[in-house]
Amino acid sequence: MAIYTLPELPYDYAALEPVINPQIIELHHDKHHAAYVKGANDTLEQLEEARDKDAWGSINGLEKNLAFHLSGHILHSIYWHNMASPKDSGGGEPLAADGVGDLADAITESFGSFAKFKTQLTKAAATTQGSGWGVLAYEPVSGRLIVEQVYDHQGNVGQGSVPVLVFDAWEHAFYLQYKNQKVDFIDAMWAVVNWQDVAKRYADAKNRTPLITP
Ligand SMILES: [Fe+2]
Repeated sequence: MAIYTLPELPYDYAALEPVINPQIIELHHDKHHAAYVKGANDTLEQLEEARDKDAWGSINGLEKNLAFHLSGHILHSIYWHNMASPKDSGGGEPLAADGVGDLADAITESFGSFAKFKTQLTKAAATTQGSGWGVLAYEPVSGRLIVEQVYDHQGNVGQGSVPVLVFDAWEHAFYLQYKNQKVDFIDAMWAVVNWQDVAKRYADAKNRTPLITP
C-alpha cells in the first residue's frame, strides 16, 4: 500500500512563466517528484521485506534511499506551494501591509535586513556543489530563522529545523531554460516567491514544541 502520494500542483504548468517555463514544471512535477514518491514507498516495502526475512545486507543503502526519497518528496511538496505567478501575488518582499509582518520582522531580526537575508539564501542556493537546495528554515531551539545549504535532499541540515522557503538548485529545476546559468535562475526565483505561503509555514513552525529546551 502506497503511503506517500504525489500532490496536485496548485497552478497550471505555465503559471510561473517567464521565470520557469511549462516544460520544466511538467517534467519536474510529473517525473522527478513522482519518482521520489515512488522511491519512498518502494523503500518502505523493501525495509518491510528485510524485516520479514531478517535479511539486512542492504540496510545501509535502504536507509539512505529512505532519507533521500522521503526528503525529496517533502521538499518538492513545499516548493510548489512556495511559488505563485509573478503576474499574480508572487515576488516582492514580505510586507506588514500584506499581512505577513511577523515573517518580515523575523527575517530582519534573524539576518539584520531583508536584503542581507536575500543575499545569503541566493548565495547558499547558487553555490550548491552537485545537487542541492537553498532553504530558509525556522530553528525552534533558538527561535530564529536560518539558511541551510542542503546536499541532495537530506544532507547538511540541523535536526528539528523546519523548512519554510525552499529553492530547488538541482539542474532539473532550471537546465532546459537557463542552461548552466544557475545564478541567473536563483536570482529569477525571487519573482515567484509566495510570501503568504512562507508566512503561514513560519507561523505553523513557531507553534511546534522544540525538541530540546534552549
Ligand atoms: Fe527538484
